Amino acid sequence: MAIKKSSQTFIQKSSEWIRKPKKSDANLKDYFKTYQSFRWKSVEKEFDWHKTGKVNMVHEIIDRHAQGARKNKVALYFWDPASTQVYPRGRDEKYTFLDLKKSSSRFGHVLKKCGVKKGDRVAVFLPRTPELYISILGIHRVGAIPVPLFEAFMETAVLDRLSDSQASVIVTNTALKGRVPFEKLNHLKGVILVDELEVSRSENQDNEPACDFCDVYNYFEEMKLASESLEPVWLNKDDGLVIHYTSGSTGKSKGVLHRQYAMVGHLQTSKWVLDLREDDIYWCTADPGWVTGTSYGIYGPWSLGASSVVLGGRFSAERWYEAIQKYSVTVWYSAPTAFRMLMAQGKTLPKKFNLKSIRHICSVGEPLNPEALRWIRAITGVAPHETWWMTETGMHIICNFRSLDFKLGATGRPFPGTYASVVDDKGKEVAPNTLGNLVVKTGWPSLMKEIWKNKAKFDEYFELKGWYKSGDSAYKDKDGFIWFAGRVDDVIKTAGERVGPFEVESALIQHPAVAEAGVIGKPDQVRGHIIKAFISLRPGFSPSDHLKAEIADFVKKNLAAHAAPREIDFRDSIPKTRSGKIMRRVLRAWDQGLPVGDVSTMDE
Ligand code: WT7
Repeated sequence: MAIKKSSQTFIQKSSEWIRKPKKSDANLKDYFKTYQSFRWKSVEKEFDWHKTGKVNMVHEIIDRHAQGARKNKVALYFWDPASTQVYPRGRDEKYTFLDLKKSSSRFGHVLKKCGVKKGDRVAVFLPRTPELYISILGIHRVGAIPVPLFEAFMETAVLDRLSDSQASVIVTNTALKGRVPFEKLNHLKGVILVDELEVSRSENQDNEPACDFCDVYNYFEEMKLASESLEPVWLNKDDGLVIHYTSGSTGKSKGVLHRQYAMVGHLQTSKWVLDLREDDIYWCTADPGWVTGTSYGIYGPWSLGASSVVLGGRFSAERWYEAIQKYSVTVWYSAPTAFRMLMAQGKTLPKKFNLKSIRHICSVGEPLNPEALRWIRAITGVAPHETWWMTETGMHIICNFRSLDFKLGATGRPFPGTYASVVDDKGKEVAPNTLGNLVVKTGWPSLMKEIWKNKAKFDEYFELKGWYKSGDSAYKDKDGFIWFAGRVDDVIKTAGERVGPFEVESALIQHPAVAEAGVIGKPDQVRGHIIKAFISLRPGFSPSDHLKAEIADFVKKNLAAHAAPREIDFRDSIPKTRSGKIMRRVLRAWDQGLPVGDVSTMDE
């Protein structure tokens, strides 16, 4: 979509500088010098495939360490204090690289038993548990492609993603399996249920079997029987790595497929942006259902042999602080919305915990507002550093680096080996401080390989010759800092999660009372944006608070809680163009109580 005011000049938002730590010991010493000389090729020698020609992510992130000096180093610390029927005292576990080599080998055998082969897609629909990580590693081992599904997804979201990816096997559990509409997924051959024996047995007695045409396996039972050694299936650099479904402004969610070679980008950005070192205890708060949780919750940090913390369960400020203290976390990767949620709990709580172990913090997902930055700096002594990137870019692109001072509010500078810029609608770079399309010169290692089965969507990103078009607007200042300004399209970022208005609208019109629906993001203090829906009702229904709640709940139950509208306004009709496109510009104006502007293309 065109940026209307591409000639608009921006006044710099702030001139306050955040200074780098006094002790300048960052992995990336001299950004400017490195930016001039760095070549991606130089990173390839970090990987065993450089010598052997045999590629597989699981070898580079697990086996390589398990066969060497990091064999007994803890790769994964897992903590979920919430008590359940199966784990009455919660879970508090450690897995070394060798443990993960063995368990992912066992799981590889289970997958082979289900008939999984190289290139097959295997969906993983599990809460954040060690089994989720082991499943993903096992899928890599047999050369298949994991499709992680965020545990909050409900039936419609699960159905869309499973049928688009044509997954042959799904790894899930008894609690979540009810949201998998097996009868509509006849490409499924196997279901692996991750449940303690007793629980799944007793559940299964009075429950329907998960799927009547596929083979159903019990994870723990099968793992016990399987051998703990399995050589990875060797792949090529271009073979598939992972598919993450993400939203666009139109249509259903799209499957972003990455390639094995992306590991080159994961490793180097983890070294220079996350600044990971041998003795770090690293905590990435993202779920592997989202790209941050794989690129920087699995691939990058483990390619460097780092120790990672994973916290299970729901958000709780107290538990987050406690986790930092419990593990003496040194590097923390989280999101503005989480920082604001911690902030909302007040200053007393963090004082009860020792947070002094932290030496570096990064942030992703939406702009980090100055108040959140200052607040996190006040409680930890460390200022969070911006990282801008996308599901499609696969790795960090624009960042603030630990060895550089940065301007408060600026998104940062391009990672060495990438070139990010701001262009007009024809792809011509604009003058400093001019708003335009945020683009990146194509050709970095982690750029997506394709949009699964959708070449037309893929091609849309590369309309401007030589550039990857992000869909964000931004400007570059005279000092070379890039400042994120907003989305150019209608994609909504709510609590850091990307939601497509079309998916929500499609869910809304399934409700019997809804005739038409239009969805926008409404600015919000804590969540960045909330989802707001404008709805026209079918004859026979009248507006009420009760109906609002019922409709919101309907989306919650069918799509996902994070995609449900937090605000609903009833209108007689929804503004549309002659071709039937919802005019979200008008909805936004309605929401803000502003004049609607030129509506000459509207229907009525
Ligand atoms: C969109 C991509 C890939 C990590 C998680 C998000 C927004 C991301 C920033 C940032 C301002 C940001 C952009 C981008 N975004 N990071 N540091 N400052 N905005 O991935 O869900 O694919 O979303 O998130 O709008 O296009 P995603």
